[in-house]
Amino acid sequence: MNKRIATLGVELTRSVIMKMRMTAWIMILFLAVSRSFAANPPDEGMWLPILIERLNYVDMQKMGLHLTVEELYSINHSSLKDAIVGLSGGPASNGFFCTAEVVSDKGLIFTNHHCGFNAIDNHSSPEHDYLKNGFWAMSEKEELSNDNLNATFLVRMENVTDSIIPFLSDTLKETDRTAKVKDISNRLKKRASEKDKYEVAIKAFYAGNEYYLFVFKTYKDVRLVGAPPSSIGKFGGDTDNWMWPRHTGDFSIFRIYADSAGNPAEYSQKNIPLRPQYHFPISLKGVKKNDFAMVWGYPGSTSRYLTSYGLEYDLTVFYPTLVKIFGKELEVMKDRMDADKKVQLAYASNYANIANTWKNFIGQEKMLVRNKVEDKKKEIENSFADWYNRDPELRKKYGPVLHNIQSGYEKMNKIAIPFFYSNFAGSGLNIVSFANQFGQLKSSLEKKSKGGIEESVNALKETTKTHFKDDDLMVSKKTFAELLKLYYKNVPKDQLPSIFQVIEKDYKNNIDAFTDAVYTKSAFATAENTNKFLEKPTLKVFKKDLGWQCAQSFQESMGKYSGTFAEARASISAGNRLFIAGLRQMNPGKVFYPDANSSMRMSYGSVQDYFPADAIHYDYFTTLKGVMDKEDSTNEEFIVEKKLKDLFQSKNYGPYGEDGKMVVCFLTTNDITGGNSGSPVINGNGQLIGLAFDGNWEAMSGDISYEQKLQRTICVDIRYVLFIIDKFAGDTNLIKELTLVQ
Ligand code: ARG
Repeated sequence: MNKRIATLGVELTRSVIMKMRMTAWIMILFLAVSRSFAANPPDEGMWLPILIERLNYVDMQKMGLHLTVEELYSINHSSLKDAIVGLSGGPASNGFFCTAEVVSDKGLIFTNHHCGFNAIDNHSSPEHDYLKNGFWAMSEKEELSNDNLNATFLVRMENVTDSIIPFLSDTLKETDRTAKVKDISNRLKKRASEKDKYEVAIKAFYAGNEYYLFVFKTYKDVRLVGAPPSSIGKFGGDTDNWMWPRHTGDFSIFRIYADSAGNPAEYSQKNIPLRPQYHFPISLKGVKKNDFAMVWGYPGSTSRYLTSYGLEYDLTVFYPTLVKIFGKELEVMKDRMDADKKVQLAYASNYANIANTWKNFIGQEKMLVRNKVEDKKKEIENSFADWYNRDPELRKKYGPVLHNIQSGYEKMNKIAIPFFYSNFAGSGLNIVSFANQFGQLKSSLEKKSKGGIEESVNALKETTKTHFKDDDLMVSKKTFAELLKLYYKNVPKDQLPSIFQVIEKDYKNNIDAFTDAVYTKSAFATAENTNKFLEKPTLKVFKKDLGWQCAQSFQESMGKYSGTFAEARASISAGNRLFIAGLRQMNPGKVFYPDANSSMRMSYGSVQDYFPADAIHYDYFTTLKGVMDKEDSTNEEFIVEKKLKDLFQSKNYGPYGEDGKMVVCFLTTNDITGGNSGSPVINGNGQLIGLAFDGNWEAMSGDISYEQKLQRTICVDIRYVLFIIDKFAGDTNLIKELTLVQ
């Protein structure tokens, strides 16, 4: 049965059927079927916790949920939502890079290994390589503090649409609208923060047709407690990433600390483990096919209402450009990382992030085509047009929408590639981003302000220290050369920044020779050069320095294209807003879930296998035997430690095994995306059964169009996590802290 038709809604179904000229009774039958789908939504959707009662609860109960609505989300007493944690490196209003969940009454949290990766990497050195060997704090004293790692709880959320939308007239220019929303939001946020007791965010939903306010409590002392070696936590590496069947123990463990009153506090030895409002009980029972499963967390962003025009732009401009740039960066880094352990650790986290996005974009390009997403989008747009064309009023309102969106993309298409490249050069080329920080010094020199110069020099001396600390000169230099080559090859000649004229004239278009000159002469190329320059800074250097000239040239280019890019973006967002409003008006009986936007969501579904292609069946779980089968001691991605092999051979699984097997990962139909990493996977009794950590290759198009038959969430079984902690690492104290249920 094609549930996808149902998700497009009753109205759409009707128009499709009309086109098919079906007889009346089939029409009635079909409508009845699609109605029943509408009342019983499929697994698609990332739902807002405060709307569960109205939209999802009956359905969830039918599927196997035994908790009450109050047990899920309540602001009066503790509920499941109080165990959900957003992880961030900055303000909560900027969103969360991952999710974690509280698992003990002493503030212990579980998340993914790839979410803790940066923290683990930061604590690693060639002598103490926690990425390679794992890390286990055997007592609270041994737990490691982290800079810029915040753990945020949601206190409450509220629909504030009516405090914002009525004050925005339809004729407002998009930039004025944005400013007005910001203005009103700031006022609402101020009130809700209760004199800065809380962080507050207001986020747009349905492209700005609705707004919700979120009140957060953020803890800043979050310490590393445990991490398996990468041979477990990242088993399968980039080869297996985004793919099933999977055998990765993708988890790491942290602890939230608070002051003695339980309030957020900066790191201090005096802080104590947080006594949380709620923590998850952990099920030892395991999962079976069709079991109810839900995921709570902070999905980052999806584009489920993207138009066919947006899709075409993604496929022809956005993904191919970024795939090229990222691919080149990875190539350059990998060479040096393989050759030098120190470089490997310095770049590990950055490399992992880029590799993850790079492979995701490749997958999206491929699966958007294979899963025929453009046809699905066109179908929606055609029925939208059929609908508004039936009524002159509707036509007046919605008639221009798709055309406006289309011309927005056309505008963007013309400048997107030079814009991306200049943007990338500005932030991704080390020497350029570094040189960009010297503008203040230059203007002090111009003003001949002695005090100003001194102040800048002192600040820049500090910047210089940190800038070159983890920086490998060979990676910087090679990246510079290779990316300039890509730049030259991919950006139309008349859109190249002026520095390419210098390269042509003075270096006969030899980019390697130009790079050599930059890296020997520029004051911004090496710590030595910079320090020498800072001893005696002069304006003359700024005039002649090649690194500075590059920085200026890329900035100029960015300035040239960023305005058009922003304008096009603004008109596209205005169009999208109206398009989504139209779709909702066209389907009054259908519940539309909002796109992910790094706000707390709940997704529910079941444990499920799938058929990735004709004649291929993928089971819904993997076992430790599969780890042994994949072992390849010559490939760092597939190393298996002796200890794990011994445990496998002796089948020493304790209470975590099942029928002599150790389950490693399993699949659910939950609708998730990046940001959900580390999210709790929860059974019908509200117990933790796994951690969500990935999506599957065949449904890489899923952020743009949910694939009912193919889309799966890849979870690490919580029993594998416990097995690794207990039997592999021998950290039995941690096990004692948890609430285990048979
Ligand atoms: N693809 C996962 C995600 O973005 C991250 C997996 C990390 N593991 C890896 N081998 N790179 O959610």
